[in-house]
Amino acid sequence: MQKPKGTYDIFGKKADQMLYLRKLMNALMDKYNVKYFETPIFESSDLFHRGVGETTDIVSKETYDFKDRGNRSLTLRPEGTAGIVRCFIENKLYAENLPLKAWYFGPMFRYERPQAGRFREFYQFGVEMFGSYDPIMDAEVISILVNFFKMLGLKGIKVNINSLGDSESREAYRKSLISHFKPYLDDLCEDCQNRFSKNPLRILDCKVDCDKEFMKKAPKMTDFLNKESVRHFDMVKKYLDEMGIDYVENPNIVRGLDYYTHTVFEIEADIKGFGSQNVLGAGGRYNNLVQNIGGPDIPGVGFAIGIERLLLALEMEGIDITSNSDPEIYVVPMGKDSVLKAFNLVNVLRLSGFNTEMDYNNRNLKSNFKNADRLHAKFIIIVGEEEINTKTLTIKDNSTKEEFKIKLDKLVEFLDDKILSTNDDK
Ligand code: HAM
Repeated sequence: MQKPKGTYDIFGKKADQMLYLRKLMNALMDKYNVKYFETPIFESSDLFHRGVGETTDIVSKETYDFKDRGNRSLTLRPEGTAGIVRCFIENKLYAENLPLKAWYFGPMFRYERPQAGRFREFYQFGVEMFGSYDPIMDAEVISILVNFFKMLGLKGIKVNINSLGDSESREAYRKSLISHFKPYLDDLCEDCQNRFSKNPLRILDCKVDCDKEFMKKAPKMTDFLNKESVRHFDMVKKYLDEMGIDYVENPNIVRGLDYYTHTVFEIEADIKGFGSQNVLGAGGRYNNLVQNIGGPDIPGVGFAIGIERLLLALEMEGIDITSNSDPEIYVVPMGKDSVLKAFNLVNVLRLSGFNTEMDYNNRNLKSNFKNADRLHAKFIIIVGEEEINTKTLTIKDNSTKEEFKIKLDKLVEFLDDKILSTNDDK
């Protein structure tokens, strides 16, 4: 049996890295008063059709749709925003103190062609904030992203920002795109001919037509922003400038999801040889999504980071984020009769806060020393008949090979002292 195409198993180093990242996210989110959310991995298909948009590639080509045994149409979530918005509405969280700030971490599913940095099951860390039209929220969301990368020591990133304006600006832009593309209708790919009538903005996101001359000459959204949209975008930039966050204004950022209004952004890996899937994280403001999904008129703004791409970027910059989870103590029972007492000692040591492992396989002393080396254990404790009778344990420091005889009631104190001092040396 093999795993499905475009998926991967998480164990060993990757598992360590994922756990480390989650710890870091948790700590960072506390600083911003962002609360953890979990929503179902599958939702009613309709949520994504209405939320992400019928004409997007994600919904029209990439969703994992299925019928359950009750004939309900369900979809494995291709992204996290729609589910969080549904949860926000269903639980009437809008009646609470706003803005409400949510974060999430979990698997997403898209039927895409797998390649480096692109999977069919991938992990996202995302943040969504509801209840403020103020550009300060857009800036806060971008700053979280940038600070997260900074905390990890990742330097090679480029922040691209753009504005898609409000509904009025979008409508003016839509009209202008229709008159621009009309003469080229026959030259557009089949998907874009469809997009032309349904959602001409999507044409700009086309991977088939993107190099054609009429694409390059297409009108730019920024020329159609009304006064309010310009003001909003200017304020976002002002906040970013004040925080010293570098960014590039990039009018080509239109995003692959339909729900955005005003600010959109993408964080690119600016690392030589990174490959084509170089957008590490992305997001933007969505003032109409809550209402489109059936909730009150409440705005939102958020982002999501692709964990696999982030790990790739860290690796390419030589940043090791695995934390040391090797056992500090390895307990060796000398013979079957000592196992009972040794097992209890392991229990006591674990409850006292030590990372402890033992020999479960009745190995001889020599292969136990080898095993302790393989596990990178700092101390070896031998529990034999004599140790049990005299209540005095033999402890070996595995790096200096020094041996100590310690009374059982002084053991925790001794280890605390030894292990804390070796941790301090690091
Ligand atoms: P997105 O741009 O579709 O936005 O995805 C966000 C990030 O997820 C991408 O920048 C990329 O790093 C990662 N990603 C996407 N597809 C794949 C894949 N097939 N394999 C590996 N990584 C992938 C969203 O999902 C929005 N929900 C972001 C958002 C939140 N906007 C507002 N709030």
